Amino acid sequence: MKASILETIGHTPLLTIPNTNHANEAQILMKYERYNPGGSIKDRAALHIIKEAERRGLLKPGGTIIESSSGNFGISLAMIGAAKGYRVIILIDPKTTSANRALIESFGAEAIVVTEQDDCGSYHKTRIALANRLADEIEGAYRPDQCFNLLNSEAHYASTAREILDDSGGELSVFITAVSTGGQLGGISKYLKTFAPHVQVIGVDAVGSAIFGGRSDAYRIPGIGLGWTPVNLEMSRIDEAYKITDEQAFVTARAFARREGILMGPSSGACALVALKKAQMLPPGERVVCMIADGGDRYIPTLFNTEWITAQGFDTTADMTVVRQMAAELTPWSVCPAADANYRADLVASLEVPQSTLDMNTELLHGREVGVAASRYID
Ligand SMILES: Cc1ncc(COP(=O)(O)O)c(C=O)c1O
Repeated sequence: MKASILETIGHTPLLTIPNTNHANEAQILMKYERYNPGGSIKDRAALHIIKEAERRGLLKPGGTIIESSSGNFGISLAMIGAAKGYRVIILIDPKTTSANRALIESFGAEAIVVTEQDDCGSYHKTRIALANRLADEIEGAYRPDQCFNLLNSEAHYASTAREILDDSGGELSVFITAVSTGGQLGGISKYLKTFAPHVQVIGVDAVGSAIFGGRSDAYRIPGIGLGWTPVNLEMSRIDEAYKITDEQAFVTARAFARREGILMGPSSGACALVALKKAQMLPPGERVVCMIADGGDRYIPTLFNTEWITAQGFDTTADMTVVRQMAAELTPWSVCPAADANYRADLVASLEVPQSTLDMNTELLHGREVGVAASRYID
């Protein structure tokens, strides 16, 4: 028996893809985060951050949780707020799916849509700035601040990474995940480079995002990308980076639903495409672990709506044969991501990151080796 829904977070399954994987290539294993009660990997970071805020007295009974999120982290916080009795306000943007907004509101949380784009053509900076302003104005407010809070990656260091290594029997050659706040990639890469340094760690971003350098532009993959390199991501631990187009990500996710019966969102489609590429390059017996951050049911109005896919100009008929060929033709964006890092220390001041977040980051880093990412953002 579980004392609360929150006790069901984590310990997600690792899936094989028998209909897709060929016998003459490495085995792909998918870490299927849809099994978290909020439906995505973000439950892990959200719970870790909220528990730590309670422990430190930053969030007290009757308090309000305020966060900027394109959906998944907001859904996780809304669920946790409901289970623990907090008011929750989530700043979303026009790219947030109607299903995600409905989920946030189903848990009794308030969703505010931020429509003003930032100078990167995205909504991250405008959402974060408004969240910080609201947190200043509302008494008893707490900002989890997934973008600047090092507890985000710590959550994955402490749970997701350990599960991956344990469940694959330590036998994996490559690990792949998508990036936005860098929580997953930052925490899991830190763990793997410490306890399994032979594992090649690969980050997957969107064409149009500038996490691994390059120009910022608009893109449609939800939950992925950022206009700068986040503090949670220590780029020296990343061996290779790929940038995936909107069409590649959506088409791959659709193909996996039909071929394997696995529902996944577009960011996971992007990861799965890179996993296919790596598996094709490696011999049988090797293992490639790929994160599937959420399920596809929350993208039904877009990803699984053929009219919407057609309106974007994407291929509506691509099957796994087409997707496998697409994977074979992929080339890495970078084989030395550290050289292309795009750290922006100035954002701490311009986005008015709460002092409580900065103080906690400094404390978390006290006595530890401070990586390049952290030293750029923290005094
Ligand atoms: C579906 C999905 N995939 C990937 C990511 C990226 O994860 P992270 O923020 O830990 O880098 C997110 C983050 O919101 C997400 O919602």
